[in-house]
Amino acid sequence: MIRIFCFSGTGHSMAVAKFFSESLRTEITDISQETTIPCTKSEISIIVFPVYCGNIPKIVKSVLPKINSKYFVLIATYGRISTGNVLWESARLVKGKVIAAEYVPTGHTYLDEPAEFDDEILKPVLKMIKQPKEIVVKKERKGILPFIFPNLRSRLGVKINRTSDCNKCALCEISCPMQAISDGKISKKCIRCLRCVKSCPRNALEVTYNPLLKKYIEKYISQK
Ligand SMILES: Cc1cc2nc3c(=O)[nH]c(=O)nc-3n(C[C@H](O)[C@H](O)[C@H](O)COP(=O)(O)O)c2cc1C
Repeated sequence: MIRIFCFSGTGHSMAVAKFFSESLRTEITDISQETTIPCTKSEISIIVFPVYCGNIPKIVKSVLPKINSKYFVLIATYGRISTGNVLWESARLVKGKVIAAEYVPTGHTYLDEPAEFDDEILKPVLKMIKQPKEIVVKKERKGILPFIFPNLRSRLGVKINRTSDCNKCALCEISCPMQAISDGKISKKCIRCLRCVKSCPRNALEVTYNPLLKKYIEKYISQK
C-alpha cells in the first residue's frame, strides 16, 4: 500500500502531493496535526513538505519518525532560494529505506506566487516508486543561515494582523500546525507558514512584510 503525507502552509507542497495522488490514485494524509498519522505499516510512504529557513518544518520533523513504512519517498518544495540539507536530514529521521528524494522548486510563500511546479522533475520518481530500490541521499553543504534563529527571523520579517472582518470562527486556530493561535492572538510559537491566513474564509488575517525581507527574496530569485 502506498500512502501520501503532506504538510503545506500555502498550498505549494499540496500541489505536489496532489500530483502523486492523481498519478497513483491515493488519498493524501495532512500531517499538520500529529494525530492523523496511521499506526499500520505501509509499503511506500511519500512525504511532501516545504523547506523553511533551510530547515525541515518542526511539525514534519516530529512526524517523520512516527510514520511506519518499508520504503520512503522524500519530496521537499522550496522557493528557489536555498534547500539547506533537508533531504539528507529527513532521510536520517525516517525508519525505513529511502527510494527517492527530490527537491522541487516552486513559488515562494512570501511572494504570493501560484502553486505551480514542473512535474517533469517528478516523473523519474514515479518510475522509482514502481521498482523500489534503496538509494543513498547525498549530504549537502547547509551554510550558517539556517542555524541563526530561523523562527525569530521569520517573525521579524512577516507580521500577521487580525482585522475587524474576523468573526472568531477559530478556523485559524485549528489550522495552525504549531498551536500558536489562541483567542485570535498569535504567540511566539508561530513559524509564519501562513496556513492560518489561507484558512480564513473572511480574509481577516492581513500579512505585512518587512521591505528588506521582500527585497532580499526578490533579488535572490531574480539572480537565479
Ligand atoms: C517560514 C518560511 C521559510 C522559508 N524558507 C525558505 C528557504 O530557506 N529557502 C527557500 O528556497 N524557500 C523558503 N521558503 C519558501 C517555501 O519553501 C516555498 O514557497 C514552499 O514551496 C512553500 O510550500 P507550502 O506552500 O506548501 O508551505 C520559506 C517559506 C516560509 C513560509
